[in-house]
Amino acid sequence: MTKACNVPTAKPARVPLRSRLSGEAANPHGRLGRFLARIWWYETAAVNVRALDLLAPRAGEHILEIGFGPGRTLHRLATIGCQVTGLDASADMVRLAGKRNAKHISDGVVELRLGSAESLPIPTSTIDAALAVHTLYFWPDLVGACAELARVLRLGGRLVLVTHDADQPHPRRFDPKIYRLRSAEQLTKTLSEAGFTSVTARHEASLLFVHAIR
Ligand SMILES: C[S@@+](CC[C@H](N)C(=O)[O-])C[C@H]1O[C@@H](n2cnc3c(N)ncnc32)[C@H](O)[C@@H]1O
Repeated sequence: MTKACNVPTAKPARVPLRSRLSGEAANPHGRLGRFLARIWWYETAAVNVRALDLLAPRAGEHILEIGFGPGRTLHRLATIGCQVTGLDASADMVRLAGKRNAKHISDGVVELRLGSAESLPIPTSTIDAALAVHTLYFWPDLVGACAELARVLRLGGRLVLVTHDADQPHPRRFDPKIYRLRSAEQLTKTLSEAGFTSVTARHEASLLFVHAIR
């Protein structure tokens, strides 16, 4: 006869909600990732409009967006008449943004790539302007990513990066182990060393909008 074993089993450690949500922001996947992406569609809309104002994309230009999430800004760029390449590290976001941009993809106006910012699958000097909104916190190699942006942008090409400002209080809902905030000084130095000129940083509320010219 087998005896029931009453040894208590260890409960798996609970991941705090803040860490779970921050982890999903960095790598959205599954139901929670898609749920957050639906929130971003509205929550980050105004910031993305502001980023596009600074980027000033024109019809016919080739624009790169890194970390596009649900793909709202890709859609807007395609509607303006730009040729758009999007790169995101999440396969689920590539799928979701693909559905939301299906017509522009089938028309050959939008192309989506799965990958990470520090290794862009894009030929040298082929991009007129690039933007990345609320994503550089998660890039494993910021210096490498800025070097890649400098490589793919043609001379005179524009770049806009948007991030929470490291010189402001760290938002409580962001796990600091996952969200690496940068200051205007850090970003300006990194972009200048990567070969960008005219790097300017604007502080708007707790956000930092960085504009640079290749
Ligand atoms: C918080 S969401 C922001 C989405 C969108 N830019 C917006 O403003 O709503 C961050 C996005 O960055 C992507 N991401 C994270 N690490 C990345 C990396 N190393 N390279 C490219 N994309 C990355 C995530 O998959 C996610 O889609």
